[in-house]
Amino acid sequence: MNTTISAQEGKGNIQKDPKSPATMPVVIAVSREKTPGEQRVAMVPEVVQKLTKSGYEIRIEHDAGAAAFYPDNLYIVAGAKIASSPAELLDGARIVLRVQPPTVTDVDQLTVGTIVIGFMNPSTNLETVARMRDRKVTAFALELVPRISRAQSMDALSSQATAGGYVAAIMGADNCPKFLPMLTTAAGTIRPAKVLILGAGVAGLMAIATAKRLGALVEAYDVRRAAGEQVRSLGAKFLELEINAEGQGGYARELTPEEKVQEQQMVSAAVAQADIIITTAAIPGRKAPVLITRETVAMMRPGAVIIDMAAESGGNCEMTQAGKTIREHGVLIIGPQNLPSRVPFHTSQMYAKNLQSFLALLIDREGEVVREFTDEILVASLLVHAGEVRHGPTRDLLKEGKL
Ligand SMILES: NC(=O)c1ccc[n+]([C@@H]2O[C@H](COP(=O)([O-])OP(=O)(O)OC[C@H]3O[C@@H](n4cnc5c(N)ncnc54)[C@H](O)[C@@H]3O)[C@@H](O)[C@H]2O)c1
Repeated sequence: MNTTISAQEGKGNIQKDPKSPATMPVVIAVSREKTPGEQRVAMVPEVVQKLTKSGYEIRIEHDAGAAAFYPDNLYIVAGAKIASSPAELLDGARIVLRVQPPTVTDVDQLTVGTIVIGFMNPSTNLETVARMRDRKVTAFALELVPRISRAQSMDALSSQATAGGYVAAIMGADNCPKFLPMLTTAAGTIRPAKVLILGAGVAGLMAIATAKRLGALVEAYDVRRAAGEQVRSLGAKFLELEINAEGQGGYARELTPEEKVQEQQMVSAAVAQADIIITTAAIPGRKAPVLITRETVAMMRPGAVIIDMAAESGGNCEMTQAGKTIREHGVLIIGPQNLPSRVPFHTSQMYAKNLQSFLALLIDREGEVVREFTDEILVASLLVHAGEVRHGPTRDLLKEGKL
């Protein structure tokens, strides 16, 4: 495969600039997130200060950090300029940083060759991808950053999943009618609550650590046997099953129909005993596997709580409704959306640091956008460039949808 991609193709208005690029700092714009419920911001003042020191011009859309408790004045102190409108923000901007994918309307405001970096959720945003292709905008999708050790500092999926696991455990505790720790009091001894975590990836491990710190008895299960060691190292019990579904790149593969039945039977027994269940099981690019059936919910203890972190990709519990909380057989089933946005101060900080590392690959020592996207991290995360969709699976989906 030819991985040499010219960064200069289709760069439009930037080429037209009469001044020498060496005297013009790269302008990096930070959009205010408009997606309902999104409280994060792509850049925080601490990182802005580092970027402005390196010679970039950072422009922040007015109130972009307000919901994450980063007011405009902190960005000004850090050296950024505040733009009062999207037009002012984007005028001459070479790079646009965002958390959520742009909408078609957002893309229409971008000039040819602008580079947009953020989560792109390409499979559910095909129209936007097509518009970026047609307007010759360049887009890097952070969810496509490969999980190699050199890319760890730019792994926004992991930084945000860590926050998601933490919030899910707190949410479980908050909705549980029991204490989590064991208590010995004059009014009697309280037994610790039982917490079960299904899926012990990044989010699951953080949920385990948080529930352990709150004093619960924690059990966890994952189809990847390698997860067992990490679960045990956090002081939780790992549920063993005769399945090892370690797939490519450390991710889980989809189970066979027989394995699915085996798994559901084993999981049901553990689920029936638990007070809080946090499910995080996911298979990249596919619907989440059903681990808790309707029948299993009927066997659960009244007052038990399910926090289904896979709600947005179909749910690990058959009864989950994304964005809703329902009660069935006395069991509370919560299908939260965008958990990282609930701790926006810290998730924005982590995300901004991920972007800082990513920008270090994209901009060379002279302060210019690299001429060719040859680095394997840039190649893998490049979604759209110079009028072409570079990510094969997204290209196939666009063809299927005749876009
Ligand atoms: N830079 C790196 O090297 C790096 C960074 C982050 C994650 N990782 C690895 O990537 C892997 C996946 O991490 P993730 O958190 O993004 O995963 P994910 O969000 O895709 O899935 C969450 C977890 O669900 C599990 N799962 C899938 N199907 C299941 C089923 N039917 N039953 C039970 N569990 C099921 C997966 O094995 C995974 O652990 C892990 O091995 C992690 O250590 C590596």
